[in-house]
Amino acid sequence: MHIHKLEKIWLAIGIAMLVVFLTVLGVSAFAQGMQPPSGKQQALDPAKAAETPPFDKPGLRQIGDNRYEAVMLGFAFGFEPRQPMEVPAGATVDFVVTATDVVHGFAIPRTNVNMMVVPGEVSRVTHTFDKPGEYLILCNEYCGIGHEYMQTKIVVKG
Ligand code: CUA
Repeated sequence: MHIHKLEKIWLAIGIAMLVVFLTVLGVSAFAQGMQPPSGKQQALDPAKAAETPPFDKPGLRQIGDNRYEAVMLGFAFGFEPRQPMEVPAGATVDFVVTATDVVHGFAIPRTNVNMMVVPGEVSRVTHTFDKPGEYLILCNEYCGIGHEYMQTKIVVKG
């Protein structure tokens, strides 16, 4: 059987690419332990989320130099803490959020913060608030009759 020279070259390139891809896959899966989420393990029991640390004490706490952690619960229809949280301008806030009932959204308009909050899972997002002002935190995932009332605020002091 005669194989044209160009076909041989192309075959070699194809095999080389396959080897590279399988090596990358193998190294990342076995050596670095990268795996897709199983979907079986829950981080916490959504029914007991309000009693499970850190969600038993929702709120803002300082964890470093102008760095804060905001532990929050999403539920039908609101967020805990209910009172607006206050941070100084330039503060970096790590939001740690879970849901107690159904899937909610967590979005802060005028920022890149936009994530889903899923019961049994912990969602995290970090944002630095450079501009002072009032930032709305709202649910952008339809969750029931009171969906439009599900919001709270973070106030960035100048
Ligand atoms: Cu929660 Cu919409």
